[in-house]
Amino acid sequence: MPRPRFHFTPRRHWMNDPNGLVHHGGLWHLYFQHNPEGSDWGNMSWGHATSPDLEHWTEHPVALAHRTGEQIFSGSVVASRAGGDVLTAFYTSAYDDGHQAQSRATSLDGGFTWKTDPADPILDRGTTAFRDPKVIRYDDGRHPRWVMLTVEADDRQVLLYASTDLVTWEHLSTFGPLGAAGVVWECPDLVRLPLDGDGDDARWVLLLSTNPVGDDPDPAGSSMHYVVGHFDGTAFVPDTPELRRLDHGRDYYAAVTFDDAPGGEAVTIGWMGNWRYAHAFPSDPWRGAMSLPRVLGLRTVQGRPTLMQAPPAFVRERLTHAAATSVAVVDRPAELSLTGHVLVELGWDPATTGTLRVRLRGAADAFVDLVHAPGTGSLRLTRGGPAAEAVHPDFPSTTAVPLPGDRPARLLLSLDGPLLEVFVGDGEAAASNLVLLGAGGVTASLETARPGTVHVTAVDIEAPSDADAPEPAAALG
Ligand code: FRU
Repeated sequence: MPRPRFHFTPRRHWMNDPNGLVHHGGLWHLYFQHNPEGSDWGNMSWGHATSPDLEHWTEHPVALAHRTGEQIFSGSVVASRAGGDVLTAFYTSAYDDGHQAQSRATSLDGGFTWKTDPADPILDRGTTAFRDPKVIRYDDGRHPRWVMLTVEADDRQVLLYASTDLVTWEHLSTFGPLGAAGVVWECPDLVRLPLDGDGDDARWVLLLSTNPVGDDPDPAGSSMHYVVGHFDGTAFVPDTPELRRLDHGRDYYAAVTFDDAPGGEAVTIGWMGNWRYAHAFPSDPWRGAMSLPRVLGLRTVQGRPTLMQAPPAFVRERLTHAAATSVAVVDRPAELSLTGHVLVELGWDPATTGTLRVRLRGAADAFVDLVHAPGTGSLRLTRGGPAAEAVHPDFPSTTAVPLPGDRPARLLLSLDGPLLEVFVGDGEAAASNLVLLGAGGVTASLETARPGTVHVTAVDIEAPSDADAPEPAAALG
């Protein structure tokens, strides 16, 4: 399995959720759920990587290691300027006796070494699925405070707490349950976003990850959702009580935002995996990859506030500097030769071409099909073939990504080895999938129902030079 080039993967061993995302001291810090000792889930600890630009990552020594009787589950980091340059981490202590509670650690050296709090755990309800603390800032100009979101995962509830000093926490409110039963709720976040760019008309968007549980769990596995609403510093009130799909692929989970991102932007990273088959994904010596970062926005689409997820600036920059080619698709498929690490933008007018079919194939006996039939208002994304079937019976998949058929369409495909992310237009929809196209080049065949033109911009992402190849970073401190 080729290692991704412009996505973070650990040098070795298992990784799941992003944790402790924070921008601090000019660096983007990414901590992550990590087994430092093996390629399966276990010994959960916080691994650590940093990036100056969200594209090139350097891995550092484990930041918070599991210890006897306690694993370090997901959580967050905030940068507080009050009282010095301190980073504070909140994570779930998952004790061997089965109970889960929230703990705290601080770093005085910019996030490289951490001291746990002697008072840990600092929030303990004596329950077994109380986890994933995400601390956010709330400032209405009168009562600035920190708000912590956690889940009681089995109850499908988000619990909100407030603090002014990051030490003492007071329960504010509880949100949920809502939506389908038969899942646990995990990794909540709450993000303030201006609607249609109007800072005076902001909404709060709750991000949630859900994972099927029980005797007959949904074979589609893990997925992410969002709820748009209002938050007054105490309670989150949804505009409509429904969970909306956040990513339309099979491999996007546990995404949360960075604290203190420049310009107050809401930047997320997610885990490109699915609990249904993550343990079976054949990559080595690493297992688990992060998504591209995304910049969140909120735009009115068909009368309702809709989450926008735009690819990061470096992706846009690469594409604007590349030349577009027009590919005439006449009576047989047009073939494009691509490397396996490439950004491809496609533009076409469904009114002229009718159905567009793009098939990706590489060295492995597997394929990815993207089919846009204008009348369906969606793009069907299928991954299949013997190599996909061999991963896990539930790995082959077909999902639908909203894509209107009545106007010129634009798609961005980011393919980085086994990671395929599809963005519609400016980020009106996104779909992330692990794919098995094999090592080496990939051929894209474009076929249209009627003769027409597809505008293609393709940018290869070069292999990192030795200077920034993923190699062990020197231990710090
Ligand atoms: C989500 C999750 C979290 C938990 C962590 C454990 O993928 O199950 O709820 O904290 O992973 O690794």
